[in-house]
Amino acid sequence: MIIAIDGPAASGKGTIARRIAAHFGLPHLDTGLIYRATAAAVVAMGKSPTDPVAGAQAARALDISRFDEAELRSAQMGEAASIVAAIPEVRAALVDYQRTFARQKGGAVLDGRDIGTAICPDADIKLFVTATSHTRAGRRAKELASRGEAAEFDSVLADISKRDARDSGRASAPLIQADDAIVLDTTQLDVDGAVAAAIQIVEERSAQPD
Ligand code: CDP
Repeated sequence: MIIAIDGPAASGKGTIARRIAAHFGLPHLDTGLIYRATAAAVVAMGKSPTDPVAGAQAARALDISRFDEAELRSAQMGEAASIVAAIPEVRAALVDYQRTFARQKGGAVLDGRDIGTAICPDADIKLFVTATSHTRAGRRAKELASRGEAAEFDSVLADISKRDARDSGRASAPLIQADDAIVLDTTQLDVDGAVAAAIQIVEERSAQPD
């Protein structure tokens, strides 16, 4: 069973994906981390995240185990990742790794922006996790503050809105809901509520004949 979970920044998709994977005993790939690691590699090369040659080179040579996850999760790296992720050659270089992960025996859970549309269009279940930008900014501000990063609500909201626009507006695999995705709006849900709703959707869907 392949479960594709897409959605905008801080919608809760990462937490839902992790918990769904644990619940169903499936491996999980956070594809955002791959783009964050690519951005980190570009920066480490002394290049700009807008540089397509450096981006493609970094993506092709990527070794995700080389990076410190806490560093990759910073707001700054999220911004750089979204710039790098708009480069078609970067996306192309990362497709095989993601598809190989998805196709392992027994299946997998992948979360990102284009899993249901571009990476695994044949996924058994597609969830599109969303929430209002205010709710998402509040969650992200809390998350950043808990890690000691600057997290003033208005600037987090501005960053999230800018990233949404870039991710949705790019030509290459933009963030859009797949036609056959089920929307899970987590605006009114806490973490446990969102996870429970997602598990219920997966159980209902997997019980349905094709
Ligand atoms: O955790 P958050 O939702 O803020 O970000 P993330 O999922 O780690 O993704 C960081 C950036 O990588 C996003 O803003 C996207 O531009 C890009 N990304 C992508 O283009 N495609 C994916 N499958 C995953 C992430």
